[in-house]
Amino acid sequence: MKKSMIRLCFTAGLAIGLVFSLNVQALTVGFAQVGSESGWRTSFSESVKAEAEKRGITLKFSDAQQKQENQIKAVRSFIAQRVDAILIAPVVETGWQPVLMEAKRARIPVIILDRNVAVTDPSLYLTRIAPDFEVEGQRAATWLTEKTGGKCKILELQGTVGSSAALGRMKGFNATIAKFPETKIIRSQTAEFTRAKGKEVMETMLKAEGGGKNICAIWAHNDEMALGAIQAVKEAGLQPGKDILIVSVDAVDDALKAIVSGEINVSVELSPHLGGPAFDVINEYRAGKKDFEKWIHMGGAVFTIENAAAELTKRGAK
Ligand code: AHR
Repeated sequence: MKKSMIRLCFTAGLAIGLVFSLNVQALTVGFAQVGSESGWRTSFSESVKAEAEKRGITLKFSDAQQKQENQIKAVRSFIAQRVDAILIAPVVETGWQPVLMEAKRARIPVIILDRNVAVTDPSLYLTRIAPDFEVEGQRAATWLTEKTGGKCKILELQGTVGSSAALGRMKGFNATIAKFPETKIIRSQTAEFTRAKGKEVMETMLKAEGGGKNICAIWAHNDEMALGAIQAVKEAGLQPGKDILIVSVDAVDDALKAIVSGEINVSVELSPHLGGPAFDVINEYRAGKKDFEKWIHMGGAVFTIENAAAELTKRGAK
Protein backbone atom coordinates (compact mmCIF):
# COMPACT_ATOMS: atom_id res chain seq x y z
CA MET A 1 0.00 0.00 0.00
CA LYS A 2 2.74 2.38 1.07
CA LYS A 3 4.84 1.40 -1.96
CA SER A 4 1.98 2.00 -4.40
CA MET A 5 1.34 5.43 -2.82
CA ILE A 6 5.00 6.35 -3.28
CA ARG A 7 4.87 5.13 -6.88
CA LEU A 8 1.71 7.18 -7.51
CA CYS A 9 3.23 10.35 -6.04
CA PHE A 10 6.42 9.81 -8.05
CA THR A 11 4.47 9.38 -11.32
CA ALA A 12 2.31 12.42 -10.57
CA GLY A 13 5.45 14.45 -9.81
CA LEU A 14 7.00 13.38 -13.08
CA ALA A 15 3.85 14.31 -15.00
CA ILE A 16 3.68 17.75 -13.36
CA GLY A 17 7.38 18.29 -14.09
CA LEU A 18 6.86 17.30 -17.71
CA VAL A 19 3.87 19.60 -18.16
CA PHE A 20 5.81 22.44 -16.49
CA SER A 21 8.91 21.99 -18.65
CA LEU A 22 6.80 21.69 -21.82
CA ASN A 23 5.10 24.92 -20.84
CA VAL A 24 8.48 26.65 -20.36
CA GLN A 25 10.04 25.32 -23.54
CA ALA A 26 7.18 25.18 -26.05
CA LEU A 27 7.55 28.80 -26.97
CA THR A 28 6.15 30.34 -30.12
CA VAL A 29 7.50 33.74 -31.08
CA GLY A 30 6.42 35.97 -33.99
CA PHE A 31 9.09 38.12 -35.63
CA ALA A 32 8.03 41.05 -37.83
CA GLN A 33 11.23 41.84 -39.72
CA VAL A 34 11.81 44.93 -41.92
CA GLY A 35 12.80 43.02 -45.07
CA SER A 36 15.98 41.85 -46.70
CA GLU A 37 17.28 45.14 -48.04
CA SER A 38 20.85 44.72 -46.85
CA GLY A 39 23.53 42.18 -46.00
CA TRP A 40 23.25 43.30 -42.40
CA ARG A 41 19.50 42.65 -42.36
CA THR A 42 20.00 39.16 -43.81
CA SER A 43 22.60 38.32 -41.13
CA PHE A 44 20.22 39.63 -38.48
CA SER A 45 17.34 37.42 -39.73
CA GLU A 46 19.61 34.37 -40.02
CA SER A 47 21.00 34.93 -36.56
CA VAL A 48 17.51 35.16 -34.98
CA LYS A 49 16.38 31.99 -36.84
CA ALA A 50 19.50 30.08 -35.78
CA GLU A 51 19.14 31.18 -32.15
CA ALA A 52 15.46 30.14 -32.13
CA GLU A 53 16.34 26.73 -33.52
CA LYS A 54 19.12 26.25 -30.98
CA ARG A 55 16.69 26.99 -28.15
CA GLY A 56 13.80 24.88 -29.54
CA ILE A 57 11.64 27.98 -30.10
CA THR A 58 9.05 27.97 -32.89
CA LEU A 59 9.69 31.18 -34.83
CA LYS A 60 7.02 32.65 -37.08
CA PHE A 61 9.00 34.89 -39.38
CA SER A 62 7.53 37.65 -41.53
CA ASP A 63 9.50 39.69 -44.11
CA ALA A 64 7.69 43.02 -44.58
CA GLN A 65 9.60 44.05 -47.70
CA GLN A 66 10.34 47.44 -46.17
CA LYS A 67 6.61 48.26 -45.80
CA GLN A 68 5.18 49.18 -42.42
CA GLU A 69 1.65 48.12 -43.43
CA ASN A 70 2.96 44.57 -44.02
CA GLN A 71 4.54 44.59 -40.57
CA ILE A 72 1.31 45.74 -38.92
CA LYS A 73 -0.59 42.95 -40.72
CA ALA A 74 2.01 40.42 -39.53
CA VAL A 75 1.73 41.61 -35.92
CA ARG A 76 -2.09 41.33 -36.08
CA SER A 77 -1.76 37.81 -37.43
CA PHE A 78 0.67 36.89 -34.60
CA ILE A 79 -1.87 38.23 -32.10
CA ALA A 80 -4.66 36.18 -33.74
CA GLN A 81 -2.45 33.08 -33.52
CA ARG A 82 -1.87 33.74 -29.81
CA VAL A 83 1.92 33.58 -30.01
CA ASP A 84 3.80 33.80 -26.68
CA ALA A 85 5.78 36.90 -27.64
CA ILE A 86 6.32 39.25 -30.57
CA LEU A 87 9.58 40.72 -31.85
CA ILE A 88 9.35 43.81 -34.06
CA ALA A 89 12.18 45.44 -35.99
CA PRO A 90 10.19 48.51 -37.14
CA VAL A 91 10.62 49.96 -40.64
CA VAL A 92 9.81 53.49 -39.43
CA GLU A 93 9.33 55.08 -36.01
CA THR A 94 5.76 56.37 -36.15
CA GLY A 95 2.38 54.64 -36.49
CA TRP A 96 2.85 51.82 -33.97
CA GLN A 97 0.63 52.83 -31.07
CA PRO A 98 -2.67 51.16 -32.17
CA VAL A 99 -1.25 47.72 -32.99
CA LEU A 100 0.95 47.72 -29.88
CA MET A 101 -2.18 48.47 -27.84
CA GLU A 102 -3.85 45.44 -29.46
CA ALA A 103 -0.90 43.25 -28.42
CA LYS A 104 -1.05 44.65 -24.89
CA ARG A 105 -4.80 43.97 -24.65
CA ALA A 106 -4.09 40.38 -25.79
CA ARG A 107 -1.40 40.20 -23.04
CA ILE A 108 1.33 39.33 -25.55
CA PRO A 109 4.70 40.87 -24.65
CA VAL A 110 6.43 42.82 -27.42
CA ILE A 111 10.17 43.40 -27.77
CA ILE A 112 11.48 46.04 -30.16
CA LEU A 113 14.71 45.16 -31.97
CA ASP A 114 17.07 47.43 -33.91
CA ARG A 115 15.10 50.55 -35.00
CA ASN A 116 12.86 52.39 -32.58
CA VAL A 117 9.14 53.14 -32.24
CA ALA A 118 7.77 56.54 -31.24
CA VAL A 119 4.95 55.82 -28.77
CA THR A 120 3.55 57.89 -25.92
CA ASP A 121 3.02 54.86 -23.65
CA PRO A 122 6.30 53.05 -22.90
CA SER A 123 4.42 50.13 -21.32
CA LEU A 124 3.40 49.05 -24.85
CA TYR A 125 6.64 47.09 -25.14
CA LEU A 126 8.90 45.32 -22.66
CA THR A 127 12.22 46.63 -23.89
CA ARG A 128 14.17 47.63 -26.98
CA ILE A 129 17.41 45.86 -27.86
CA ALA A 130 19.42 48.11 -30.15
CA PRO A 131 22.53 50.17 -30.74
CA ASP A 132 22.73 53.96 -30.38
CA PHE A 133 22.31 55.21 -33.94
CA GLU A 134 23.27 58.74 -32.97
CA VAL A 135 26.58 57.53 -31.58
CA GLU A 136 27.20 55.58 -34.79
CA GLY A 137 26.82 58.83 -36.77
CA GLN A 138 29.11 60.66 -34.35
CA ARG A 139 31.79 57.99 -34.64
CA ALA A 140 31.66 58.06 -38.44
CA ALA A 141 31.94 61.86 -38.46
CA THR A 142 34.73 61.90 -35.89
CA TRP A 143 36.81 59.56 -38.04
CA LEU A 144 36.17 61.74 -41.11
CA THR A 145 36.94 65.09 -39.52
CA GLU A 146 40.14 63.71 -38.00
CA LYS A 147 41.20 62.25 -41.34
CA THR A 148 40.48 65.41 -43.35
CA GLY A 149 41.50 68.02 -40.79
CA GLY A 150 37.92 69.29 -40.77
CA LYS A 151 37.87 70.26 -44.44
CA CYS A 152 35.59 68.13 -46.61
CA LYS A 153 32.71 68.26 -49.11
CA ILE A 154 30.41 65.32 -48.48
CA LEU A 155 27.74 63.46 -50.44
CA GLU A 156 25.29 61.72 -48.12
CA LEU A 157 23.27 58.58 -48.84
CA GLN A 158 20.48 58.42 -46.30
CA GLY A 159 18.72 55.27 -45.17
CA THR A 160 14.95 54.78 -45.20
CA VAL A 161 13.12 58.05 -44.56
CA GLY A 162 11.47 58.03 -41.12
CA SER A 163 13.54 55.10 -39.83
CA SER A 164 15.30 55.70 -36.54
CA ALA A 165 18.53 54.31 -38.03
CA ALA A 166 18.58 57.10 -40.64
CA LEU A 167 17.31 59.79 -38.27
CA GLY A 168 19.79 58.93 -35.50
CA ARG A 169 22.82 58.55 -37.76
CA MET A 170 22.04 61.84 -39.47
CA LYS A 171 21.62 63.64 -36.15
CA GLY A 172 24.89 62.30 -34.70
CA PHE A 173 26.90 62.92 -37.86
CA ASN A 174 25.53 66.43 -38.43
CA ALA A 175 26.07 67.48 -34.80
CA THR A 176 29.70 66.38 -35.02
CA ILE A 177 30.55 68.07 -38.32
CA ALA A 178 28.77 71.26 -37.17
CA LYS A 179 31.94 71.99 -35.17
CA PHE A 180 33.92 72.15 -38.45
CA PRO A 181 32.77 75.07 -40.64
CA GLU A 182 34.66 73.74 -43.67
CA THR A 183 33.06 70.31 -43.50
CA LYS A 184 29.75 70.38 -45.35
CA ILE A 185 27.20 67.93 -46.72
CA ILE A 186 26.56 69.36 -50.16
CA ARG A 187 24.07 66.74 -51.40
CA SER A 188 21.89 64.35 -49.45
CA GLN A 189 19.26 61.89 -50.62
CA THR A 190 17.74 58.60 -49.52
CA ALA A 191 18.86 55.38 -51.20
CA GLU A 192 16.65 53.27 -48.92
CA PHE A 193 19.50 51.23 -47.45
CA THR A 194 19.90 49.20 -50.69
CA ARG A 195 22.92 48.60 -52.91
CA ALA A 196 21.07 49.20 -56.19
CA LYS A 197 19.69 52.55 -55.04
CA GLY A 198 23.05 53.47 -53.53
CA LYS A 199 24.65 53.10 -56.94
CA GLU A 200 21.81 54.84 -58.79
CA VAL A 201 21.63 57.86 -56.46
CA MET A 202 25.42 58.21 -56.38
CA GLU A 203 25.61 58.18 -60.18
CA THR A 204 23.18 61.09 -60.28
CA MET A 205 25.00 62.98 -57.52
CA LEU A 206 28.41 62.56 -59.15
CA LYS A 207 27.06 63.76 -62.51
CA ALA A 208 25.52 66.78 -60.81
CA GLU A 209 28.92 67.47 -59.24
CA GLY A 210 30.74 67.49 -62.57
CA GLY A 211 32.06 63.93 -62.16
CA GLY A 212 32.95 64.19 -58.46
CA LYS A 213 36.54 65.53 -58.56
CA ASN A 214 35.68 68.18 -55.95
CA ILE A 215 34.13 65.61 -53.57
CA CYS A 216 36.12 64.57 -50.54
CA ALA A 217 33.85 61.88 -49.04
CA ILE A 218 30.70 59.80 -49.33
CA TRP A 219 28.85 59.24 -46.07
CA ALA A 220 26.50 56.26 -46.47
CA HIS A 221 24.11 55.32 -43.67
CA ASN A 222 24.90 51.64 -44.31
CA ASP A 223 27.42 49.37 -46.01
CA GLU A 224 25.00 48.22 -48.66
CA MET A 225 24.60 51.74 -50.07
CA ALA A 226 28.36 52.33 -49.67
CA LEU A 227 29.05 49.22 -51.77
CA GLY A 228 26.66 50.50 -54.46
CA ALA A 229 28.27 53.95 -54.32
CA ILE A 230 31.73 52.41 -54.81
CA GLN A 231 30.58 51.06 -58.18
CA ALA A 232 29.32 54.50 -59.21
CA VAL A 233 32.63 56.12 -58.15
CA LYS A 234 34.61 53.58 -60.17
CA GLU A 235 32.39 54.09 -63.22
CA ALA A 236 33.00 57.83 -62.89
CA GLY A 237 36.71 57.06 -63.29
CA LEU A 238 37.66 57.74 -59.67
CA GLN A 239 39.17 55.50 -57.00
CA PRO A 240 36.87 54.86 -54.02
CA GLY A 241 38.76 55.05 -50.75
CA LYS A 242 41.47 57.32 -52.28
CA ASP A 243 39.97 59.99 -54.55
CA ILE A 244 36.77 59.90 -52.51
CA LEU A 245 36.74 58.64 -48.93
CA ILE A 246 33.96 56.17 -48.11
CA VAL A 247 32.44 56.25 -44.62
CA SER A 248 29.76 53.80 -43.60
CA VAL A 249 27.96 51.79 -40.90
CA ASP A 250 27.29 48.06 -40.24
CA ALA A 251 30.73 46.44 -40.74
CA VAL A 252 29.34 43.46 -42.66
CA ASP A 253 31.91 41.04 -44.11
CA ASP A 254 31.71 42.56 -47.61
CA ALA A 255 32.47 46.01 -46.21
CA LEU A 256 35.42 44.72 -44.19
CA LYS A 257 36.75 43.11 -47.36
CA ALA A 258 36.34 46.45 -49.15
CA ILE A 259 38.27 48.11 -46.31
CA VAL A 260 41.09 45.58 -46.74
CA SER A 261 41.17 46.26 -50.50
CA GLY A 262 41.20 50.02 -49.79
CA GLU A 263 37.78 50.88 -51.27
CA ILE A 264 35.97 51.68 -48.00
CA ASN A 265 37.82 53.67 -45.34
CA VAL A 266 35.72 53.13 -42.23
CA SER A 267 32.65 51.22 -41.13
CA VAL A 268 31.06 51.52 -37.69
CA GLU A 269 29.93 48.13 -36.46
CA LEU A 270 26.31 47.19 -35.82
CA SER A 271 25.92 43.72 -34.34
CA PRO A 272 23.27 41.57 -36.06
CA HIS A 273 23.11 39.20 -33.07
CA LEU A 274 19.99 40.53 -31.39
CA GLY A 275 18.10 37.21 -31.17
CA GLY A 276 19.93 35.79 -28.13
CA PRO A 277 19.29 38.82 -25.89
CA ALA A 278 15.65 38.97 -27.12
CA PHE A 279 14.94 35.34 -26.24
CA ASP A 280 16.66 35.84 -22.85
CA VAL A 281 14.22 38.69 -22.13
CA ILE A 282 11.24 36.52 -23.11
CA ASN A 283 12.44 33.73 -20.80
CA GLU A 284 12.91 36.17 -17.92
CA TYR A 285 9.44 37.58 -18.56
CA ARG A 286 7.91 34.12 -18.46
CA ALA A 287 9.80 33.40 -15.25
CA GLY A 288 8.05 36.38 -13.64
CA LYS A 289 10.22 39.44 -14.30
CA LYS A 290 8.07 42.36 -15.41
CA ASP A 291 10.34 45.39 -15.10
CA PHE A 292 12.93 45.69 -17.85
CA GLU A 293 15.26 48.52 -18.75
CA LYS A 294 13.60 50.31 -21.68
CA TRP A 295 16.76 50.10 -23.78
CA ILE A 296 19.23 47.23 -23.78
CA HIS A 297 22.23 48.70 -25.47
CA MET A 298 24.31 46.90 -28.12
CA GLY A 299 27.79 48.31 -28.70
CA GLY A 300 30.18 47.82 -31.60
CA ALA A 301 33.69 48.55 -32.86
CA VAL A 302 34.95 50.94 -35.55
CA PHE A 303 36.75 49.17 -38.41
CA THR A 304 39.46 50.68 -40.60
CA ILE A 305 42.48 49.35 -42.48
CA GLU A 306 44.10 48.80 -39.05
CA ASN A 307 41.74 46.12 -37.76
CA ALA A 308 39.44 44.93 -40.61
CA ALA A 309 41.59 41.96 -41.71
CA ALA A 310 41.93 40.66 -38.15
CA GLU A 311 38.15 40.93 -37.69
CA LEU A 312 37.52 38.95 -40.90
CA THR A 313 39.83 36.21 -39.59
CA LYS A 314 38.08 36.26 -36.22
CA ARG A 315 34.70 35.88 -37.93
CA GLY A 316 36.03 33.08 -40.12
CA ALA A 317 34.73 35.02 -43.14
CA LYS A 318 35.26 33.47 -46.57
O1 AHR B 1 18.25 49.54 -38.92
C1 AHR B 1 19.54 49.18 -39.17
C2 AHR B 1 19.90 49.38 -40.60
O2 AHR B 1 18.96 48.74 -41.43
C3 AHR B 1 21.22 48.81 -41.02
O3 AHR B 1 22.28 49.68 -40.83
C4 AHR B 1 20.98 48.61 -42.47
O4 AHR B 1 21.94 47.85 -43.13
C5 AHR B 1 19.63 48.03 -42.44
O5 AHR B 1 19.00 47.94 -43.60
